[in-house]
Amino acid sequence: MSKDNIDLGRRKALTGGVAVVGGIGTAVAFWPFVSSMNPSAIALAADSPVEVDISKMQPGQRIQEVWRRKPVWIIRRTPEMVKTLANLTPKLRDPDSSVESQQPAFAQNEFRSINEEFLVLIGICTHLGCSPEFRPDPGAEGLGASWQGGFYCACHGSRFDLAGRVFKNVPANKNLEVPPYYFLSDGRLLIGRTKEEASA
Ligand code: FES
Repeated sequence: MSKDNIDLGRRKALTGGVAVVGGIGTAVAFWPFVSSMNPSAIALAADSPVEVDISKMQPGQRIQEVWRRKPVWIIRRTPEMVKTLANLTPKLRDPDSSVESQQPAFAQNEFRSINEEFLVLIGICTHLGCSPEFRPDPGAEGLGASWQGGFYCACHGSRFDLAGRVFKNVPANKNLEVPPYYFLSDGRLLIGRTKEEASA
């Protein structure tokens, strides 16, 4: 079992704080540099892609990065997690990811990803912008026996599966957003550009 799963309770308590503190730390460290930049340079820096080392991620683990000042989650799904995606279709509002603004074309599939193992999502609820909790365990406490793992937004109760697809009858009406990204190698991701954009 991954550390991410073992320490779920503590992480849930910390998730919001980490995002806020991380943002403040980044802003403070960044400010002297930013203040010396002209507006177009600031815009370019804010839009810069982020390179992420995923080579040491364990099956079932989630890590968090920041891109465009937004939390970005990378989840390494286990085969069991991937299997849950196939039988949820009737319960989902947009199982085929038909809302084009919510993902690049390469993620318009059941897994919402380039390959089924790694999921990359913007960690912001599509209802009113809270940060959902990662609740990967089937039947997780408080979410009912039919829960097969996914993301739960405690603000108003929205639920998303392990591909970030939103369930029916919850306040959020769109799937979680997938940012542009591609694999630089087996162990490295680049978030913020598609492969086509990077090579254009
Ligand atoms: S902000 Fe997530 S359910 Fe309202």
